[in-house]
Amino acid sequence: MPPLSNDIVLRALLREPVPYTPVWLMRQAGRYLAEYRATRARAGSFLALAKSPALATEVTLQPIDRYGLDAAILFSDILTVPEAMGLGLSFAEGEGPRFERPLRDEASVRALRVPPLESLRYVFDAVAEIRKALAGRVPLIGFCGSPFTLACYMVEGGASKDFGTIKSMLYKNPELLELILEVNVAASAAYLNAQIDAGAQAVMIFDTWGGILADGVYQRFSLNPMRAVLAQVQREKEGRRVPSIVFTKGGAGWIEEIAQSGCDAVGLDWTADLGACRKRIADRCALQGNLDPHVLFAKDSDIEREVEHTLTRFGEVGEGAGHVFNLGHGISQFTPPDAVAVLVSAVKSQSRAFHKVSA
Ligand code: CP3
Repeated sequence: MPPLSNDIVLRALLREPVPYTPVWLMRQAGRYLAEYRATRARAGSFLALAKSPALATEVTLQPIDRYGLDAAILFSDILTVPEAMGLGLSFAEGEGPRFERPLRDEASVRALRVPPLESLRYVFDAVAEIRKALAGRVPLIGFCGSPFTLACYMVEGGASKDFGTIKSMLYKNPELLELILEVNVAASAAYLNAQIDAGAQAVMIFDTWGGILADGVYQRFSLNPMRAVLAQVQREKEGRRVPSIVFTKGGAGWIEEIAQSGCDAVGLDWTADLGACRKRIADRCALQGNLDPHVLFAKDSDIEREVEHTLTRFGEVGEGAGHVFNLGHGISQFTPPDAVAVLVSAVKSQSRAFHKVSA
């Protein structure tokens, strides 16, 4: 593999000095890009796209080519793992994910198994093909869903307003939920390790729904399983540390505990104050985030002002190490593509003043 010509994201995730604040965006390859919609139409569906290593490679590189972002993220989905467990995944147009066989009774939970990695081979093939296509331009981030967030979809059978089914299970029959989480932990750790073996250079755990949980319950049912995944993930590959990021949407209130989960960086949504979070964890981890994705609907000068606000919240001039710029959640499918170019160039030009290294 060629050496990385831009490894700024990897260094920032480890709080090493960098010349500017690196930037990538959650869901950076997606429907807001015309070239993504064209490739998706050729594939026939989102799942067919994700299951074709060649097409997944094509869409992973689209935002890199267009915007000069500092990292690529594997094009896939967190729900590939429960799909491989046999729950029957489909994506209905405009409705989000659906499982045909959600886990609703004890028998289906007891029958749940860690899927053979072979059934997810298309993901690892995509990782290898993306690394080759990137040719060292920027690092590739692999990912999985948190055990709890996966369980939300596995139990509810799809998106949900109040997660009433899984929360009832949690309080009525916690042992049953723990059985699901145990399988999800083992599957997620094996899945991330196989992505790292195939070439992923950093990994991120997406905990989209941990933030719906009560204090105390979050630690037991979402954070602890993520800690167990991280404990099993390999930390070094190709002679370098593979940094890990934990993102609990709505999780800023628990940042001290998240920062002690074994991750190198904590992802934050837009409700968090980056500066206050940084102080609370005494710089133990890097921080990733946290611009509101809807800022991208504002006019250029307002986007630039919001970027400045985010950079300034993280740290004063000369103190910017340990920040990876991102949105606070995935980019909206209705985002005007030109707004992303404005964002990326604002981060790159404004952030130099926040770093001591000029190299
Ligand atoms: O960030 C990236 O660019 C990498 C690819 C990626 C996707 N999904 C592609 C995708 C990643 C990292 C995910 C993670 C994911 N998937 C999460 C966690 C992050 C988050 O957004 O909270 C969750 C909860 C899912 C489950 C999921 N997948 C949902 C709820 C949906 C439907 C939502 C929607 O926008 O319609 C998906 C589908 C999906 N995953 C799309 C993309 C680009 C849109 C599918 C399409 O092209 O129609």
